Amino acid sequence: MSDLEQLEQSILADIVAADNEQAIEGVRVAALGKKGSVSEKLKTLGRMTPEERTVMGPAINGLKQRVGEAIAQRKAELHDIAINERLARETLDVTLPVRQSPIERGRIHPISQVMDEITAIFSDMGFSIAEGADIETDYYNFTALNFPEGHPAREMHDTFFFNPDENGVRKLLRTHTSPVQIHTMEKQSPPIRIVIPGKTYRCDSDATHSPMFHQIEGLVIDKTANVANLKWVLQEFCKAFFEVPSLNMRFRPSYFPFTEPSLELDIQCDRSGKEVRFGQGDDWMEILGCGMVNPNVLRNVGLDPDEYQGFAWGLGIDRIAMLKYGMPDLRAFFDADVRWMKHYGFRPLDMPTLFAGLSN
Ligand code: DAH
Repeated sequence: MSDLEQLEQSILADIVAADNEQAIEGVRVAALGKKGSVSEKLKTLGRMTPEERTVMGPAINGLKQRVGEAIAQRKAELHDIAINERLARETLDVTLPVRQSPIERGRIHPISQVMDEITAIFSDMGFSIAEGADIETDYYNFTALNFPEGHPAREMHDTFFFNPDENGVRKLLRTHTSPVQIHTMEKQSPPIRIVIPGKTYRCDSDATHSPMFHQIEGLVIDKTANVANLKWVLQEFCKAFFEVPSLNMRFRPSYFPFTEPSLELDIQCDRSGKEVRFGQGDDWMEILGCGMVNPNVLRNVGLDPDEYQGFAWGLGIDRIAMLKYGMPDLRAFFDADVRWMKHYGFRPLDMPTLFAGLSN
């Protein structure tokens, strides 16, 4: 066997023996690299006589070509094998459920949930959301809302007062969301359609009262707003909120300084079972206060009651949340107990909307 034949045999054997991409690259460098065995053979051509070269030239170049082709073929084979192995190793079952992410694990507090539900319902009816500060003056919390000085209704609110400031003015923690009605009417001209969610404060604490609680208030002011509109808005709200197709309502006369006439709304319910059910049964539950805006309130914000009129309502968010989701004790709302939150809280990515369902 000639030198060349021997060399070819040994390179072909190395090619067959190479069992991964790195090994075949090693064989290529050893044969065809700058100092490779085949390259060294090619270099010998320069030192040959023309006669020798006519014989050896094609022989060495033929060797180079065959070795090159064999290496390329083995390289492609090994590359395919490597890819298939990697595919087998990295298979992944796309039908597995998604792992719970940290944001999925957090929970939305029932109060935030109920606020989102209520604002979703009223936004759908064309109301905007208005908010105000927790610290108020006596004027906005009481006087502008037609609570006369020294009137007993002021006492009923169990107000938290601050110490008087250097000018002798005593600020307070708002006892209801109604002051935002005044701020809005001072800033914005009618028509006005707003809902006002927020924190409110009264010196009171037991299983159904907390010194800090939440209300949501509604206000409509234009030239024709009337009791029939008020009834419709509240009926639509109650049906949507309690997620029932129909619901009987009953209005009773009441008293609030800022409305005239003032009404309280009861809704139909069934208390015979463990939990209260709405839209069925023959029992009633008081749910909110409402009425036509008192002309004195309109005068206090510079609106002419002969031209403008409106209606308003207000309700406790905490209480309505307890009713809807069957939570027995209000104090647990503010304990920040993660076990309670896990049980009563809502998934953060399920935003309440009317089209997808409020509480699903
Ligand atoms: N502000 C009242 C309260 O805290 C609730 C209320 C009743 C608000 C009637 C209203 C309303 O806007 O019209 O007890």
